[in-house]
Amino acid sequence: MAEMDPVKLMKQEVGRAAAAQVKSGTVLGLGTGSTTAFAIQFIGDRLAAGELTDIKGVPTSFQASVLAKKHGIPLTTLDEVETIHLAIDGADEVDPQFNLIKGGGAAHTREKIVDGLAEKFIVVVDSSKLVDKLGSTFALPVEVLPMAVAPVTRALTALGGVVELRMGIKKDGPVITDQGNMVLDVKFEAIAQPAELEAAINNIPGVLENGLFVGLATEILVGEVKDGQATVRSL
Ligand code: A5P
Repeated sequence: MAEMDPVKLMKQEVGRAAAAQVKSGTVLGLGTGSTTAFAIQFIGDRLAAGELTDIKGVPTSFQASVLAKKHGIPLTTLDEVETIHLAIDGADEVDPQFNLIKGGGAAHTREKIVDGLAEKFIVVVDSSKLVDKLGSTFALPVEVLPMAVAPVTRALTALGGVVELRMGIKKDGPVITDQGNMVLDVKFEAIAQPAELEAAINNIPGVLENGLFVGLATEILVGEVKDGQATVRSL
């Protein structure tokens, strides 16, 4: 059998470790992305095996909703539930204070609502996502109303960012989010004060939400591969 690509293996094992923390009778925030996709799959497996019962998921994207249905996880909405016991979600960067950049899949607006409401928020990443300073490897995603793309681009440039409108792959033109908006990817040298930058960006008229998640994560599960063996450590 062909060996699994190490990054995929890390994502799989970290997804499995997060799914193992789910308890019966809880409401889950279901994140977006390739790592969380494994967690959703393993939660579905545990439900099918009868290890878990009475689970409901609040999806953070169209992708999460499709995956949850595929793996037999019943869905609910924020109109129906008041508490999210546990959210599981990926990240594009994680700093030593557990602050994150998210939005590589353009889902950060709904992710911040759901992850931010959760009593516990587990972040699932492979070791390549750990950074000393946010912004060092990844551009910050900002969701913007389409009619405000030009003024928001100017305002983000004035804040010191290099701004690019995210373009589709296998689709001509810009990426359109699940909410019908566009995404600006903003490269900063390194983000010294994430909370201040998060607030400053969200204060620009036309911005819906940016991908800085400050003080929301409670546990980081990191997948690593050494000598072909995948391990998961908790920060
Ligand atoms: C979705 O918009 C993102 O916030 C993802 O959670 C993030 O990009 C991590 O995705 P991967 O697990 O695919 O790297």
